Amino acid sequence: MRAVVTTRNGDAGALKVEERPDPVPSKDQVLIRVKAAGLNFADILARQGLYPDGPPKPCVMGYEVAGIVEAAGDEANRTLIGKPVIAMTRFGGQAELVSAPVTQIFEKPETLSFEQGAAIPTNYLTAWALLVTMGGLKKDEAVLIHNAGGGVGLAALDIAKHIGATTYGTASTAKHEFLKARGLDQAIDYRKQDWLPVLMDLTKGRGVELVIDPLGGKSWKKSYRALRSTGRMGVFGMSTASASGIMGKLRAMKALAQTPRFHPLSLMNRNKGVFGLNLGHMWGEGEKVTGWTQEIVRGIQEGWIRPHVDRAFPFDQAADAHRYIEARKNIGKVVLVP
Ligand SMILES: NC(=O)c1ccc[n+]([C@@H]2O[C@H](COP(=O)([O-])OP(=O)(O)OC[C@H]3O[C@@H](n4cnc5c(N)ncnc54)[C@H](OP(=O)(O)O)[C@@H]3O)[C@@H](O)[C@H]2O)c1
Repeated sequence: MRAVVTTRNGDAGALKVEERPDPVPSKDQVLIRVKAAGLNFADILARQGLYPDGPPKPCVMGYEVAGIVEAAGDEANRTLIGKPVIAMTRFGGQAELVSAPVTQIFEKPETLSFEQGAAIPTNYLTAWALLVTMGGLKKDEAVLIHNAGGGVGLAALDIAKHIGATTYGTASTAKHEFLKARGLDQAIDYRKQDWLPVLMDLTKGRGVELVIDPLGGKSWKKSYRALRSTGRMGVFGMSTASASGIMGKLRAMKALAQTPRFHPLSLMNRNKGVFGLNLGHMWGEGEKVTGWTQEIVRGIQEGWIRPHVDRAFPFDQAADAHRYIEARKNIGKVVLVP
């Protein structure tokens, strides 16, 4: 099979399409012929050598695919063969074939294309865990979604709108019109202006009940200040460190040095909460993730979950796909197609 291989730490030139042996499903796995594979910011950080959870290089990244079941292991349900499915894959998804345990797949809803299917697992499970499970967002509350125009950002917007919360989002200006059409109440360009005073103005000095922040470093300090009483901040990334080579290492060190510390007594006296999420550390919690997936599938059926695929890049243009996201051009999801 052909696979997108991250050959070494470095710039997008480190990505190559190579021939790899076809995977053989173990007894509880199915083999999937991949039609589309999700590309995530984690794949970029992994390529840059800034993602501690990534596999050793050379490696095939890929946390999620949509495709058709081609074969099943001895103890896996053979009636799945021929079915279109969406799968969560612990790497290896950016290839023509991937095997995944049956517990990590679900049938692709007919209303979704394969490309949209590949946009579901990482973005929507992350957003669900942040907003619903851990963030406890309510109808009469307000949420600030950082990078609202990205993959997780748009997923969070769908969920927040469904809950009925007031939505604020930071994003590059080029994405504002699209975000407003998707229902975002207020968009702020955090790169052109200091977003905190703007948000405070918009909320009449109160702030918001929930902030989700994947930027890290000093951004977490600022996001915490944006919380109203009873507010919660969900931290889930460090995209501020993103860069290839020595620059990435320096930015990561700077972000770590600027990371705030939260004292329990201060949290108590300010009526604020801070929580973290790493979806990649939920593999041992299959039942919880299955429960979230069922809610998301319900949302697809009811029409309030609307995965938006910006662009599909063929495998041999994987480097361009990485560059596209690094240049902040994507609105929503980027997928790779064989
Ligand atoms: N902890 C978890 O379980 C988990 C799971 C999924 C994703 N994440 C994190 O969530 C964030 C979003 O992930 P995603 O896959 O949905 O990516 P994404 O938001 O679709 O992709 C990148 C977008 O982020 C913004 N951005 C912010 N800092 C950037 C930088 N230094 N370089 C390039 N773009 C930057 C850009 O948009 P604007 O400039 O318009 O804002 C860009 O378009 C990432 O930090 C990722 O690591 C964490």
